[in-house]
Amino acid sequence: MDKLSEIRAQVPAVQSQVYLNTGTAGPLPEPVRAAMAESLAAQVSGGRIASEYYVKLSRLKAEIRARHATMLGCEPDEIALTQNTTDGMNLVTLGVNWQPGDEAITTNLEHAGALFPLFAARARFGITIKIADVLERPEEAAAVIERLITPRTKLIAVSHVSFITGAVLPVKEIAEVAHRHGVLVLVDGAQSFGAIPVNVKELGVDFYAVTSQKWLCGPEGAGALYASRAAVSQVQITFAGYNTAQAYDMYAGLLPKGNAQKFEQGTLQPATLAGHLAALRWLTDEVGADWAYSRIRSLAAAARALLAEVPGVTVLTPAETAGLVSFQVEANADAVLKALTGQKILIRTVPHPRSLRLSTGFYNTEEELEQLAAALRPLARA
Ligand SMILES: Cc1ncc(COP(=O)(O)O)c(C=O)c1O
Repeated sequence: MDKLSEIRAQVPAVQSQVYLNTGTAGPLPEPVRAAMAESLAAQVSGGRIASEYYVKLSRLKAEIRARHATMLGCEPDEIALTQNTTDGMNLVTLGVNWQPGDEAITTNLEHAGALFPLFAARARFGITIKIADVLERPEEAAAVIERLITPRTKLIAVSHVSFITGAVLPVKEIAEVAHRHGVLVLVDGAQSFGAIPVNVKELGVDFYAVTSQKWLCGPEGAGALYASRAAVSQVQITFAGYNTAQAYDMYAGLLPKGNAQKFEQGTLQPATLAGHLAALRWLTDEVGADWAYSRIRSLAAAARALLAEVPGVTVLTPAETAGLVSFQVEANADAVLKALTGQKILIRTVPHPRSLRLSTGFYNTEEELEQLAAALRPLARA
C-alpha cells in the first residue's frame, strides 16, 4: 500500500464521502479515537483519584506543550494549554492593559474567534477597533495596518490564514511593523496550524493561538496558546485557577506563573488531552508534518486550477495558498452546497463576501478534487 492509502485507511470519515471541509473540523483518525477510548476506559476501571493518575496527567500535558513547542518553533514554557483557538484569542485580547480610548487593529478577513474578543474588550474597556481593509490585497496588509497605528494602538489581532478567502497574511511583516511602534501582535492560527509550517520565532509574533480539531485532526476541546517570554508579562490573567499560580496566600492573593502557563486554569478532560496528544504524534511521527504541508499546498493549487476551468466559478483565493480555497458561483451558493452535499461532497459556505470554501487535507486525493470540479460544472452557472 502506498503512503496515502495507508493514511486514508486510518481515517474512516474520508472513505465514505469526499471530505473537503477540514477547515471546519478535520476527520478523526483511528489512533486519536483509540487514545481517547483508552483514556476513558482507564478512568472507568481505575478511577480518577490515584496519585499515579495525576502524575500521568501532568506528563501528558508536558508532552503536549513540548510537541506544540516543536511544531511552532518555541520553548515548552511558552505554551499554554487551552480549549480552542478562541480561548487563546480571548485570553490575550482581554488581558491587555486597556485604558479607555486605546486602540486595537484587525482586518476584514477575520473570524469571530478574533473579532468577538475585541468586541468584548470594546464593550468592557471602551477601546476603539480599527479594521484594515485587506480583502483585495492581503499581501499589502502590513502597510495598510501601519497606516492605522497611532500612539494609542496596543494590539494587532490577525489571522495567519483567512477563513474567508484562504489568503495567507504576511504575519512576519505585520509583526515587524507592530514592533516598530511598540504594539503587541496576536495571531489566530486556526487555519494555519497543521496546514502550513509555522515558526513563531521567525514570524516574530507575541502570541499565537491554535486548536486541535481542524488541521491537526484532533478532538474538539483542546488547543494551545503561544505566549513569548518577552511578551507574556505584558498581558494580565483574566481567568485564574489553581494552574495559574506559582504561589498564593489567602490574604495577599496569587503570584501568577512567570510563563505561558499562567493562562491555564482548572481541570481538563484527560481523554481529550490524550486524543490531542495522539493527533500531534500521528501528524509528526507517522504522517510527517512536512509531507502533510506540501501535500495540502499542492492539492490546494490543483483545486484552484481545476475550479478556474469551471464555467460560472470565480476563484477568490490568491496564489499563495494554505489549505483553503474559496470561490464564488453565478448560481445560488446555498443551492450548490445542498446539491454537493447530496452527492456526498462536503464543503461549506463562508460570509463577507459570501462564497463557497473547500479545504484540502493531506488525506484528500486529486481524484476527489476532479470529482468536485465535475459536480460543479452543471451547477455553477446562473
Ligand atoms: C480563522 C478562525 N479562527 C477561529 C476559529 C474558531 O476556532 P475554535 O473553534 O478553535 O475556537 C475558526 C474556525 O472555526 C477559524 O476559521
